[in-house]
Amino acid sequence: MDAPADRSLADLERVLDRTAAALQAHGAATETMEVLFRELFATRRQVPADIWGEVVVGACRRHPLAGLLHQDPFTFRAFRKPRGYAGDAVLLDFMYAAEDALMPPEWEAGTTLGKQICHYTSTCSQGTRAARSRRRVIIDILNRRAAGTPGLSVLSLACGHLREARYCPALRQGRLGRFLAVDQDRESLAVVSRELGPWGVVPLAASVREVLRGEVVLSGFDLVYATGLYDYLADPVARRLCERLLSMLAPGGRFLVANVMPTCTSAAYMEAYMDWWLLYRTEAQLLRLAETLPDEDVETVRVFTDELGQVAFLEVEKAATGR
Ligand SMILES: C[S@@+](CC[C@H](N)C(=O)[O-])C[C@H]1O[C@@H](n2cnc3c(N)ncnc32)[C@H](O)[C@@H]1O
Repeated sequence: MDAPADRSLADLERVLDRTAAALQAHGAATETMEVLFRELFATRRQVPADIWGEVVVGACRRHPLAGLLHQDPFTFRAFRKPRGYAGDAVLLDFMYAAEDALMPPEWEAGTTLGKQICHYTSTCSQGTRAARSRRRVIIDILNRRAAGTPGLSVLSLACGHLREARYCPALRQGRLGRFLAVDQDRESLAVVSRELGPWGVVPLAASVREVLRGEVVLSGFDLVYATGLYDYLADPVARRLCERLLSMLAPGGRFLVANVMPTCTSAAYMEAYMDWWLLYRTEAQLLRLAETLPDEDVETVRVFTDELGQVAFLEVEKAATGR
């Protein structure tokens, strides 16, 4: 009798065959892509993680369907990693395009089928809806804090293109204090500098490693946040970074970090076809990252989720007497 993993693989091969046939015959209907995402996610849940990573993902990439899916400029950019890593700021621009009307130029190079696939992968899929919802949470907090604190000083760590800034009227009206945008990717910072420098945003090239080693010392901020970063950090590094973020705050300041949750049904497609591997965390797992923070420096700690229930946020408020 077949092992469960063999059965899952055989079932999945049939799904891949059906998807390839449907895409070639009718184009990328939303339903076709939705079924693919769902079936891949179900398989990922059925098989042990090592079988998924070593066997199933390989089978997905060898199947002719991969060639069709890689006509999608969004999927293919993550897979080929022109900046050396999958989740770069251009990829995020694809996801924000539905709200920002700013499609990256490489979208033009996609085939008709590729553009249809791209519509689903970058706009309709659960993971990309979560990314836009995550940004809305940050925009809301940024605007509420800016309204309550004149001259609010802000630090965005792993800022990418800092696209949330375009929805912060206080920035355009000169009502914010310092706004520091930190990222390791100089190409992304060049965009920040060009588009947001005139509004007072200061880009700074630095990596998490440099921050943790104390090679870049940052302090006195009212609000520090990181989105699209903790999903890459293992627990020990993530904990140490929380300690650093706390030290960057002025007394009474807050830091906020986001993490995509394990329920995100885009995870399997991202791993199989985009070669994009995140560390997914539940609210409880995210909360545990704050365990090593010194009690005397912390006023409040809370976790909450976005409106879709796909992204968890950890928010820590520094004590008014905190160091
Ligand atoms: C998924 S993007 C998120 C961009 C933006 N925060 C957003 O939510 O739209 C991830 C960003 O994290 C940056 N990044 C990843 N690892 C980093 C590290 N170790 N140090 C500094 N930046 C990092 C990347 O350069 C990239 O711009």
